[in-house]
Amino acid sequence: MFPRDLYEIIHIIGIAMLFVSIGGVAVHAANGGNKANTSTRGLVAAMFGLGSFLILLGGFGMMARLGLVRGMPPGWLGVKMVIWLVLSAIVLLPYRKPALARPFLVILPLLAGVAVYMALYKPF
Ligand code: HEM
Repeated sequence: MFPRDLYEIIHIIGIAMLFVSIGGVAVHAANGGNKANTSTRGLVAAMFGLGSFLILLGGFGMMARLGLVRGMPPGWLGVKMVIWLVLSAIVLLPYRKPALARPFLVILPLLAGVAVYMALYKPF
């Protein structure tokens, strides 16, 4: 097991990787791009997949350090897990629905804000 703070660094690096890749896809799609006319598809897919994994690794590492591994996770953690699921599922959505590409750039940082709020204030 690593120290809690190292798990947090891993968590944040994962978040940065995931948002960079989703942002890249959204900007590309907003400018009329698609899956076929990109030269960075492999790099973005790798950044996205690794980022998504690092969020989990860091998140579950911190949970272990905080003694939250037994039983049902508290509500604030459940909300974060749902946000992770949503973020992990929607990376290619701007290609399928280009009209969503611009709203993505505004809505996704707000979703990150909700996840951070849950971690800091633990309202339930
Ligand atoms: C499966 C998904 C996730 C799990 C299991 C998880 C779990 C955790 C845990 C256990 C903490 C530590 C809370 C504490 O110290 O009391 C934490 C902190 C944090 N999480 Fe997550 N998280 C997840 C997803 C996310 C997502 C998607 C974001 C942002 C987009 C995020 C942003 C943060 C941030 C910024 C902190 C640091 C807050 C602080 O200063 O302590 N997390 N997370």
